[in-house]
Amino acid sequence: MIKKGIILAGGMGTRMSPITKAVNKQLLPVYDKPLIFYPLSILMLAKIKDILIIVNKGQLEQYKKIIPNGERFGIKISYLEQDKPRGLPDAFILGKNFIKKDNVAMILGDNFFYGQSLSKILNHCVNIKSGAKVILHKVINPENFGVAIVKGKKITRIKEKPKKFMSNLAITGLYFFDNKVLNFAKKLKPSKRNELEIVDLLNNYKKNNNLSAEFLGRGGAWLDTGSIEDFYKTTNFVSAIENQQGFKIACLEEIALNNKWIKKKDILKAIKFYGNCDYSKYLKKIIS
Ligand code: DAU
Repeated sequence: MIKKGIILAGGMGTRMSPITKAVNKQLLPVYDKPLIFYPLSILMLAKIKDILIIVNKGQLEQYKKIIPNGERFGIKISYLEQDKPRGLPDAFILGKNFIKKDNVAMILGDNFFYGQSLSKILNHCVNIKSGAKVILHKVINPENFGVAIVKGKKITRIKEKPKKFMSNLAITGLYFFDNKVLNFAKKLKPSKRNELEIVDLLNNYKKNNNLSAEFLGRGGAWLDTGSIEDFYKTTNFVSAIENQQGFKIACLEEIALNNKWIKKKDILKAIKFYGNCDYSKYLKKIIS
């Protein structure tokens, strides 16, 4: 059972400048809450209670204003700063003392997941004992992502942002690793764009026939909020679901309450923290 998770929420957000000049991308709003709530909700739905958030150097204070620690959600949250974007596998070099001898999940701070069978898929993923697992989703623009070719649930080939069509199955930004990830990450060399590459890390597992996949399927949504356009797309999606059905996506206190990690009195404290807003009104509703 994977009990530890990392949210990689650094990066310069260059594609979204000037908006990201003063504020980290993951603190920008996706409809009614900061983007970081969404990946955090995914780890919490996977029943992961020990979470490390990696943020950009100099932006820690901003994060602590909205998520000072995990107390509001009955979990443990710690932070680390990344001084420059060295690539996704840097999370496992920086996070070595957090991971220790355990297996670990990682989610990218700008990834949004939604779907009926999500909790079931997450449950499968956190149950890996060895190897690595990724979640694949069909896309129409595979050239913008890491992609995979599969045989059943086994991954036979992967490539980062292929120029020539290879597969329309994108590797989403949610990964599950055994403890070997520490060793593999340590040995990686920077690519031509001078970054440590997640596909190189995953290839270590693939070579050992130890890389498998789960599929989000037609009923699931995955959005990578890498650009302004994607932000608006995701905002529209969340607003459509929330206003149509009356429940919130990524209400962290609701997930914590359902997981029995907090009690009603903690929700009242959270309402005080957020102040008079729609999010608080929703919290009031779930405990009334
Ligand atoms: O979203 C899924 C895709 O994410 C995968 O399909 C690709 O295989 C994977 O390489 C990655 O591609 P992106 O081009 O979207 O990665 P990006 O550099 O935009 O970084 C994703 C997030 O991670 C973003 O929120 C910033 C953060 N980040 C990134 C790097 C390189 C860090 O915090 N530190 C870093 O060093």
